[in-house]
Amino acid sequence: MNVLVTGAAGYIGSHAIRAVQEAGHQAVALDNLCHGHRAALPSSVPFYEVDIGDPSRVMEILSRHRIDAVMHFAAFIEVGESVVDPHKYYYNNCAQSLALFDAMRRAGVKRVVFSSTAAVYGVPTAVPIHETQIIAPINPYGRSKAMTESVLADFAQAYEFGYVSLRYFNVAGARPDGSIGEAHKHETHLIPRVLDVALGKAEEVTIYGTDYDTPDGTCIRDYVHVEDLAAAHVLALNAIEPRRGKVYNLGSENGFSVREVIETCRTIADHPIPAVEKTRRPGDPAMLVADSAAARGELGWQPRYPDLKTIVSHAWQWHRTHPKGYEN
Ligand code: UFG
Repeated sequence: MNVLVTGAAGYIGSHAIRAVQEAGHQAVALDNLCHGHRAALPSSVPFYEVDIGDPSRVMEILSRHRIDAVMHFAAFIEVGESVVDPHKYYYNNCAQSLALFDAMRRAGVKRVVFSSTAAVYGVPTAVPIHETQIIAPINPYGRSKAMTESVLADFAQAYEFGYVSLRYFNVAGARPDGSIGEAHKHETHLIPRVLDVALGKAEEVTIYGTDYDTPDGTCIRDYVHVEDLAAAHVLALNAIEPRRGKVYNLGSENGFSVREVIETCRTIADHPIPAVEKTRRPGDPAMLVADSAAARGELGWQPRYPDLKTIVSHAWQWHRTHPKGYEN
């Protein structure tokens, strides 16, 4: 298949594009580089510094490369920022996605693998979380992804789109050889922030909330390796059916508390990593753990690195060798 990857120079996109190539497909990369890094892309891939909201350029690329399917990663991802600046999220994640899907429709490209999130569930009513749980996002980021899922569902009905929406839990880790990894300009995620302390880039890590209804009082999350996530996207490509939408949770189905993650980072990085306890971060549910049985059963997804120690050690390999990210 010829696959256009949007947001290809970002953290997940850069891992996915390699998985696409390694599966024998032809990958084409698109990214406006507002957050992505040119250096994260393989040199063998055709790259377009183009915005997904530029329909004439997108249509031209779709036609030039005879694109069969689009993997759509390009989006803003910070929950806190989405609360402060919702327009940015509804514009970039919803309106620009709509422009992309419309360009696809006009070019006759109707297959999508969509990058969604566990944030669409909001505060879950039961854990582990099954795909049938109610969609009730509690912040503009989650709502922007839920709205885009609705657009896809309607495009499937009306325009014969076929899509797979993948709802990620907490993506972490890096390519095992340490060549690419997570390099956000403004890092909010737990594992890279803890490893920043081991690298001397921060004095201490903050634990946001110790009074949750969990065994050690800190939030529990399901960490999934970015390489396993990338592999699921390739499986999803083959699972797309015309006029149908499919939705899968992607998680390791294991929950780890913030304290457990910090302790694992201390062991892997062999560094004390001081932690200070502060009040809760707004909008954090106590526990998010995936039921990923559908992805395993229907896509045949088998995570290779479900173990937190492996996830952290691959992340550490990347951060240790690239303390300035792609600026090295
Ligand atoms: N945390 C800290 N200190 C930090 C950073 C995070 O204690 O410095 C805590 C958070 O409060 C949370 C947990 O660590 O309890 C994980 O936080 P992350 O920011 O790493 O990830 P989130 O769970 O907030 O969100 C991530 C993605 C979302 C996605 C969600 C789904 O960023 O897009 O996972 O599980 F929706």
